[in-house]
Amino acid sequence: MQVDMRSKPVPAQSPQSRILYVTSEMTDFVKVGGLGDVSSALPRALRVHHDVRVLIPGYREVLAHQGAIPVVARLPAASGLPACDLGKIEMPDGLVVYVVLCPELFDREGSPYGDRSGVDWIDNDVRFARLGLAAAEMVSGVADLDWKPDLLHLNDWPSALAPAFLAWRGHSIPTILTIHNLAYQGLFGAERLPALGIPQTSFQIDGVEFHGKLSFLKAGIFYASHVTTVSATYAREITTPEFGCGLEGLLRARSDQGRLTGILNGIDETWGPQSSQQLSDALQSSDWAGKPANAEQVRKTFGLAVSRGPLFAVVSRLVHQKGIDLTIQAAEILLREGGQLVVTGRGETHLESALRKLAARHPGKVGVRIGFDEAKARQMFAGSDFLLMPSRFEPCGLSQMYAQSFGTLPVASRTGGLVDTVEDGVTGFLLKETSLPELLGALYRAVDIFASPRKLNAMRRAAMQRRFGWGLSAQQYSDVYGTAAASSAG
Ligand code: ADP
Ligand code: GLC
Repeated sequence: MQVDMRSKPVPAQSPQSRILYVTSEMTDFVKVGGLGDVSSALPRALRVHHDVRVLIPGYREVLAHQGAIPVVARLPAASGLPACDLGKIEMPDGLVVYVVLCPELFDREGSPYGDRSGVDWIDNDVRFARLGLAAAEMVSGVADLDWKPDLLHLNDWPSALAPAFLAWRGHSIPTILTIHNLAYQGLFGAERLPALGIPQTSFQIDGVEFHGKLSFLKAGIFYASHVTTVSATYAREITTPEFGCGLEGLLRARSDQGRLTGILNGIDETWGPQSSQQLSDALQSSDWAGKPANAEQVRKTFGLAVSRGPLFAVVSRLVHQKGIDLTIQAAEILLREGGQLVVTGRGETHLESALRKLAARHPGKVGVRIGFDEAKARQMFAGSDFLLMPSRFEPCGLSQMYAQSFGTLPVASRTGGLVDTVEDGVTGFLLKETSLPELLGALYRAVDIFASPRKLNAMRRAAMQRRFGWGLSAQQYSDVYGTAAASSAG
């Protein structure tokens, strides 16, 4: 039986601060990647410490989920940003979610960021400036609510303008920006400033300007009281030119000021093996007896031949970051060693088509499903022996944690959150660097271990015993809130 945290009322114990958590994804409604999962889980975990509410755009999925959403405030137009309503949803567990109701911006067929073919919405600057401004207006009292945040917690570039809007309007409350991925910065032409209500004076190095463009993410890093990112290792990496995407100077300054903190993501209880529905056979917390039944199911779903060899899985956005090209190159060797490969994902067209071709060349040995299917992903985590994640960078990564909780050993790059969550030779295999020879080396090690059931089972047990709960992370966020509040007051 699935244990769904969301159906249980969560007591908000002596709330200390009113926190507004602003996000562009929330798995309750819509998920593109890990941000969706984090935004569903973290605000709930934080309710033990604070009175936390969420603000999201009113995408079609949100409107469909809820039916008629009660309107609690009307937000006026500002510059080129349209007027909108603010809706309020109360989730079954009592979590309050505010919704920016603006059908002309958000009620569309597609993802939060682009149309069905993956092309970014042309008005993403307006859409997400509207989100950031709505958050600021909830603070400034433009939205006349009976609940006013004491602190804003923003996530990635889509909500990163909120601290800037607060500063420009002369409101000072602590603001935290969490960077889930520095590679997505929300860059737009400087000519968009007036339409977005951004003062021309802020278009400078100490402001929103990044190499002649407007950068939403830089604005957030510059104006927020404190910046966090999703692992300690990535927090260090982004202060270097190799991983800093051009923002390493500013991030190093924030780090030197004690205003940059790495806090590892958790995974929520519904990812526990014993609580996952849709699996042929539940796995227990340190018992992988259900794995063969799930593996059989995965092979059937992906049209693979019956085999006693190792089953490798990829569950991923299909983008350069994730090293999918390396996986494709390594696949021939992996098959030669008696392995099979299953892939589910969607993303860049050239990677989708390269994967389709790989499957066509190796019927019965490689199965590829282009698309997004959470149930299938769970089955793959449960039924596979190894998860491939040769990421070029990985701020945190959730898939490798999900995999370990199902006794599936990650083969992953030594970068970001992968370093902080996978123990080389104990719960998985880390590449020394992200390259084809290193990936092949790690794959050979994995195949060797697979041939030795005693060692394989010891690793599975160690992986399943790792705990990646949200408790510690929530405590660390709460500490950062405290620090930011103290420094804003002082
Ligand atoms: P990122 O956020 O960079 O995509 P993460 O590992 O943090 O990487 O999170 C990815 C999340 O998205 C995981 O929950 C993973 O299972 C899920 N996911 C990615 N692609 C798919 C897919 N095609 N189908 C189902 N789930 C997917
Ligand atoms: C981003 C990162 C990923 C991280 C996720 C949630 O999408 O790519 O590494 O796990 O955000 O924080």
